Amino acid sequence: MKSILVTGGAGFIGSHTCLTLLENGFEIFVFDSYINSSKKSLKNIIKILKKNNKDLESNLHLFKGDLKNVRNIEAIFQAALKKNKAIEAVIHFAGLKSVKESIVYPCSYWDNNVTGTINLLKIMEKYNCRNIVYSSSATVYKVKSNKLLNEKDECEPVNPYGQTKLTIENFLKDIFNSASSEWRIACLRYFNPAGAHKSGLIGESPLGKPNNLYPQITKVALGKMSEIKIFGSNWPTPDGTGVRDYIHVSDLAEGHLLALNYLLNNKPQILTLNLGTGKGTSVLEFIRIFERINNVKVPFSFSKRRDGDNAIVVANNSLAKSILKWIPKRNIEDICKSGWNWQLKNPNGFNK
Ligand code: NAD
Ligand code: UD1
Repeated sequence: MKSILVTGGAGFIGSHTCLTLLENGFEIFVFDSYINSSKKSLKNIIKILKKNNKDLESNLHLFKGDLKNVRNIEAIFQAALKKNKAIEAVIHFAGLKSVKESIVYPCSYWDNNVTGTINLLKIMEKYNCRNIVYSSSATVYKVKSNKLLNEKDECEPVNPYGQTKLTIENFLKDIFNSASSEWRIACLRYFNPAGAHKSGLIGESPLGKPNNLYPQITKVALGKMSEIKIFGSNWPTPDGTGVRDYIHVSDLAEGHLLALNYLLNNKPQILTLNLGTGKGTSVLEFIRIFERINNVKVPFSFSKRRDGDNAIVVANNSLAKSILKWIPKRNIEDICKSGWNWQLKNPNGFNK
């Protein structure tokens, strides 16, 4: 059984991926500081597995630690070794992800995301673990037109968060070039992750006020916010509102499993892949679909454009499809249904 370290495994995308990894026979070591998550997500993964008659609790090991602390990272590699289960690969989700916060606290973002990743890679080298799947983002692109974005397009992030994501990609390229015969690296650029596991036991649980569209729609539908403020009504899109590529978090989790298996079964290389559906949905369409599928009201009003926004951000996902044989299976209706199920069952997320 292969041992995988999952940094940030208690978070939104991490928890869904941990579930997929356990379901597929991996032993996992989760490393998380819980700065933006709760251990409950990991407890609920075990519940989901038990409901499906799978008792895999002994394959999940939890470590509280911070990537900024090298000794914390070393401790998890040591613990795996002591169990005779040396870590073979890392899926690296841990990071801070709020664009707004990153503008206010650039030092924390650079320190947490970039220093944290450098610390992780140092320890990986020390323990001879040279396989990594890294969470990057569509935010790295310079969006110049409305065409589908592909991996060769120019990158130029417009905020500190995006800068940290691209800097880590560049750092990983340097690492690969330094010892190209040994490293296997996949940088996965996610578009707009949304939705939740169909059980309603895990989902997105932001600790502060959410800024992204999707968690706000569910909050408004619940009556915890009065309305959505739509940022701009005059974008060059069919209905004048911004178009994005919303990708179901369970499809993303499957993308990680495929990327991991691909790396472990192929020669050393560095891959950069978009994970998106290739289909765009406007803000108004999203709201309408959410209302129809869930039979709820989502009031909105229009306000001015948000700084740094673009009209259309949609993935060309042909590379991930051809290399990983990854096909996103869930659509925007599934996103709306599963996310609402999660929110209804857990109005406060994992926070009480
Ligand atoms: P999340 O905040 O739910 O998960 C991140 C996890 O990392 C959390 O559990 C947090 O506690 C942990 N963490 C953060 N800093 C840490 C540190 N220094 N040491 C240990 N643990 C730490 O976020 P998510 O939505 O699951 O995102 C996961 C990754 O994907 C992030 O790197 C993010 O930048 C990237 N990403 C997310 C999105 C998105 O919209 N959700 C889009 C593109 C890329
Ligand atoms: C945002 C970030 C991006 C990050 C991504 C995922 C910005 C400029 N971009 O992307 O760096 O990688 O989240 O975390 O912050 N919208 C509204 N009203 C709202 C919120 C959003 O109309 O209250 C609109 C936006 O204008 C956009 C769409 O909804 O057209 C999606 O917005 P959002 O969920 O914030 O994602 P992105 O802007 O794609």
